[in-house]
This record gives sequence, structure tokens and C-alpha cells, in this order.
Amino acid sequence: MKVAILSGSVYGAAEDVARHVEKLLKQQDIQAWHNPRATLQDVLAFAPEALLGVTSTTGMGELPDNIMPLYAQLRDELPAALRGLPGGVIGLGDSSYDLYCGGGEQLRELFAELGVREVQGMLRLDASESVNPETDAEPWLAEFVRALRT
Ligand SMILES: Cc1cc2nc3c(=O)[nH]c(=O)nc-3n(C[C@H](O)[C@H](O)[C@H](O)COP(=O)(O)O)c2cc1C
Repeated sequence: MKVAILSGSVYGAAEDVARHVEKLLKQQDIQAWHNPRATLQDVLAFAPEALLGVTSTTGMGELPDNIMPLYAQLRDELPAALRGLPGGVIGLGDSSYDLYCGGGEQLRELFAELGVREVQGMLRLDASESVNPETDAEPWLAEFVRALRT
């Protein structure tokens, strides 16, 4: 199973979660691939069998800058190779903002447009509650892997 991890991060918290998730997937003999500056070409060259989005939220419910080029390419091209793949999103945010996890929501909507099947509902990691988003993501990731394997 080849899982492409698409990450968006401003200050590094989401990128840390993405790296942690990559490590855990590899420990389970899953071919995880993660590049925070991935282009569409990079993603398609990897030939993913599943997509995992990990993104924080910035501005007023927006996606971080580093994921915007890939987001725009995916939205413009809607590549057929990704249609029907299983996927899921881990959103990092702060519930004190109006558009809580708005970046994750945008990525979910993009996945839906791509025809990616959400095999597990979005995980929301709240910066005002959590001190360790990496470990908080572990139970969700275990369920995500189970869903990929069934
Ligand atoms: C300028 C700024 C704007 C933010 N806007 C939102 C927002 O609209 N919604 C939300 O849920 N979280 C918002 N956050 C919270 C971040 O998404 C949260 O702290 C996250 O853990 C940061 O992850 P990162 O280090 O990967 O960027 C904002 C944070 C900052 C600093």
C-alpha cells in the first residue's frame, strides 16, 4: 500500500504530525511518502494508492502557503489517477477561531472533488486543548490504516 501524505503547515506543528504519521506508517510496512513542497508531478510519480492530508489552518480559515501550489494544481487538473482512492484528513486548528480547522475542511472538499473516498472522518486537533498533536493523532491513524486494509 502506497500512501502519499500531503501537508500544509505554517509554524511546523502540522509538518511534525505529518512526519510522525509517515514514520508510523513505514513501521507498519506501508510505503508512506511525504514532501511538504510536493508538486502534482511528484505526487503522480509516486503513484499513490491512498491519500492522507495533514494541514493546519491560517489566516481566516485558510490553508497554509506551502500547500497552495499543490492544492491549485490538483483543483485545476483533477487527475484521473487519484479518482476513487481511499483517503482522509488530519486538520490542525484552534477552536478559539471562528473557522475551526477551516484548512482541513478545504482539503476535504478538494479530496471530494478529486473523487477520493473518505474512509475515516476528519480528525481535528485543537491547539488550545492538545499539548502533543503527534501522539493525539495515533488512535485516528490506527483506524485509518485498518480502513485502508479492509
Ligand atoms: C495567524 C493565525 C491564524 C490562525 N487561524 C486559524 C483559523 O482560522 N482556524 C483554526 O482552526 N486555527 C487557526 N489558527 C491555529 C493554527 O491552525 C494552529 O495553531 C495549528 O496548530 C498551527 O499549526 P502549524 O504550526 O502547522 O501552522 C491560526 C493560527 C495563527 C497563528
